[in-house]
Amino acid sequence: METKSQLLAILHTIQQKYGYISNENMQKIANQLDIHPVEVYSVVSFYEFFSTKKMGKTVIRVSGCMSNEIAGNAKVIKAFEKKLKIKCGQTTKDGKFTLLKASCLGMCDKPVAIMLNNNLIGNVTEKDVNKILKVDTKLKQKSCYVESLNKKGVSFSQTGKVIFSDYKPLSGLKKAIKLGGEKTIKEVRSSNIKGRGGAGFTTGDKWQFASEAYGENKYIICNADEGEPGTFKDRILITNYAHLIIEGMTIAGHAIGAEKGYVYLRYRYINLKPYLEKAIANFKKQKALGKNILGSGFNFDIEIKIGAGAYICGEETALIESMEGQRGEPRNKPPFPANSGYYGQPTVINNVETLCAVSHILAKGAKWFKKFGTEKSSGTKVLSISGDCKKPGVYEVEFGTTINQILKLAKATNTKAVQVGGASGVCIKKGEFNRKIAFEDVPTGGAITIFNNNRNITNVAQNFLQFFEEESCGQCSPCREGMPVLLDGLKDLKKGKCNKNYLHSLISLTETMRNSSKCGLGQTAPNIFVDLVTKFKKDYKLSKTVRKEEEVNV
Ligand SMILES: Cc1cc2nc3c(=O)[nH]c(=O)nc-3n(C[C@H](O)[C@H](O)[C@H](O)COP(=O)(O)O)c2cc1C
Ligand code: SF4
Repeated sequence: METKSQLLAILHTIQQKYGYISNENMQKIANQLDIHPVEVYSVVSFYEFFSTKKMGKTVIRVSGCMSNEIAGNAKVIKAFEKKLKIKCGQTTKDGKFTLLKASCLGMCDKPVAIMLNNNLIGNVTEKDVNKILKVDTKLKQKSCYVESLNKKGVSFSQTGKVIFSDYKPLSGLKKAIKLGGEKTIKEVRSSNIKGRGGAGFTTGDKWQFASEAYGENKYIICNADEGEPGTFKDRILITNYAHLIIEGMTIAGHAIGAEKGYVYLRYRYINLKPYLEKAIANFKKQKALGKNILGSGFNFDIEIKIGAGAYICGEETALIESMEGQRGEPRNKPPFPANSGYYGQPTVINNVETLCAVSHILAKGAKWFKKFGTEKSSGTKVLSISGDCKKPGVYEVEFGTTINQILKLAKATNTKAVQVGGASGVCIKKGEFNRKIAFEDVPTGGAITIFNNNRNITNVAQNFLQFFEEESCGQCSPCREGMPVLLDGLKDLKKGKCNKNYLHSLISLTETMRNSSKCGLGQTAPNIFVDLVTKFKKDYKLSKTVRKEEEVNV
């Protein structure tokens, strides 16, 4: 009997087959899963990759994030519009093409990036548009970069004093089995590794809570929903180091007593699924996954679940909701997933990079790991660097590396500002570039977007706020209602129509959003607005005129 947790997979099949999900099919799915059709509709309407309107046979999504804006995505969209004789958001009359502007495709190192049905294509210029439309079934003929055709994957831009370059397969898992669960958790705690997904919670503590929590079943989930604008390091880790992810998950499963793991992969990375499948198959062949792993009596298996295009599903409780076949709406916390996660059972959720690092920690020891980084931030950080620089890419650096050093690595010049941590992160201005990437200074999930002196930060803020407005799940009012008000305020600020009082009311709104939004999205979305008005005062001009409502108050 199928359960609701299969709803997203069923909807993907229907969407691929018919190009949309009809009322009739929603009713059929509801009958099949024994749920109300409204439940099916509420899920269909939540995710970007499901639609109730027929899409073209070929759907073109152009990346809309800041690095792609800088690289000229507007010109590429215009070229597609001209060739297809439609506006962005429309489908051609013959039903062959739909053109859409999407949020970040995780390809900021290769802008302008597009998604052509399920293929990620980078380095696209307006000159490539004709070719792309002609040979959409023969991607190999294109001069652009096609991620899934790149057998080896893009490698790190910098090697050297990094931990990823040297690993003996299965050495971490063998050590973990030898140590047993308790000592494995002790080793991970002693390494002081903190989560690499952004929130920076201590991994060993999370594992300890889940191991102590009561549950009939326990689960390990790898968060591969990478959706923060400017982040693409997990894409590279999946293509190059899938075996480290699978090994890290198996180590975690053994440590907390879980027998089942899931990788939640964002839909935009659907064509990277074979990298994970291959690693899983290899592990099974070596008896490192499945029943009686390496003769230890421990059973563990891994399944891949595919998202459907919603940034909020990167938030761990929204991700669990999505895995259960629901809208990706964050839950109230506590309880935290370590106590009550997937179907109410103790669940550890870790980022792709955290799980890779854990394999190294077990193989080489906590002491070795702590040799890298700072006292409070042990190990290395994998960064996604893009924007105004000559060498965008994925770099592994030790914690404690300064922004100045990063700019040097990426060959960036005339830098005005660096956005660290993606749209929800912090904008560092020139003069602060000696600050360090570390949990105690500038923490980050890994996105570094560089802006040169030609950029105006009001445009950056507009791009980010539009993204958050679209991605808010709408569950709580400070985030749902605050975002459009903030965005309108920003547009007025850009036009010179915002006076001092109006600006103060907007700043007070950012405080309300930070303090009373339910999850990290609403709490961090106003960051860029605050950075803009406090650090980049030259990028906007305040109006001296009194606004109508103020006249009324007077
Ligand atoms: C809006 C939002 C989006 C997030 N997106 C991701 C993501 O794409 N990948 C990720 O690992 N963590 C993401 N997180 C953080 C997760 O909630 C969670 O903290 C993380 O997966 C835990 O893994 P870690 O401890 O290994 O970092 C997001 C959080 C929020 C609030
Ligand atoms: S803060 Fe925004 S994204 Fe988070 S639960 Fe509230 S409405 Fe949803």
